[in-house]
Amino acid sequence: MTNITLTHLRKMKQAGEKIAMLTCYDATFAYEASTAGVDMLLIGDTLGMILQGHDSTLPVTLDDLVYHTASVKRGNATSFIIADLPFMTYSSAEQALSSSGRLMQAGAQMVKLEGGEWLCETVHQLTRNGVPVCGHIGLTPQSVNVLGGFRVQGRGKEQAQELIDAAIKLTQAGAAMILVEAVPASLGKAISEAVSVPVIGIGAGADTDGQVLVLHDMLGLSLTGRAPKFVRNFMDGQQSIQAALRSYVAAVKEGSFPAKEHSYAEQA
Ligand code: KIV
Ligand code: NA
Repeated sequence: MTNITLTHLRKMKQAGEKIAMLTCYDATFAYEASTAGVDMLLIGDTLGMILQGHDSTLPVTLDDLVYHTASVKRGNATSFIIADLPFMTYSSAEQALSSSGRLMQAGAQMVKLEGGEWLCETVHQLTRNGVPVCGHIGLTPQSVNVLGGFRVQGRGKEQAQELIDAAIKLTQAGAAMILVEAVPASLGKAISEAVSVPVIGIGAGADTDGQVLVLHDMLGLSLTGRAPKFVRNFMDGQQSIQAALRSYVAAVKEGSFPAKEHSYAEQA
């Protein structure tokens, strides 16, 4: 197995081969997921909810992300590693550069930040300085207090067009990947067709270039006892975590996940 690079990921999009991604926060799971064939590991700031028990991602610090990124890096076999920039660690281009420097030195190969057009200068600066960027659009959990809850985004023509434009502008600024969260399946498809970089969806339907889920969600672990609509429990019927991870990869690659029941329609 060779190490996955951005070049591979771009070719996968061009070839129509689906990209499988999971969140990951430690070395042991990094090893399990990577050897199961997961293309990309995301050290997501969901660790604030999943590992730390907070009710949002806002309390997560850059030190937390650095610690978990270094852990994932040590266990990883061949997967491409992306780390989240936490809340308020990229409010200027300068701050984004220094925050990203720490994540890249801990083992990240790309950073992810939440937001649209207003981040274009930051994305440009990061890319110029050797930091590939994934732009996270749609439901952006760091803005939960502005959005008024964890809600589906991009419903209605105008809102949908705004997100398509955001994806285009971010890629023009240099973003090498787009992640889109909780939008109608039709919009996930439109965004993927609008840009040439890989588009990864979570709750964005079956037609994005790849899929991501939170590791604990897809293993059936939950602090609240309920999972979002877009989650499938891949431990169902499996004998081991390794088998569950492999069945996730297979389901993404063959296009059986996400199914219609995991996707949002245009109308509520
Ligand atoms: O932090 C995270 O886990 C994420 C994914 C849900 C995309 O950003
Ligand atoms: Na995140």
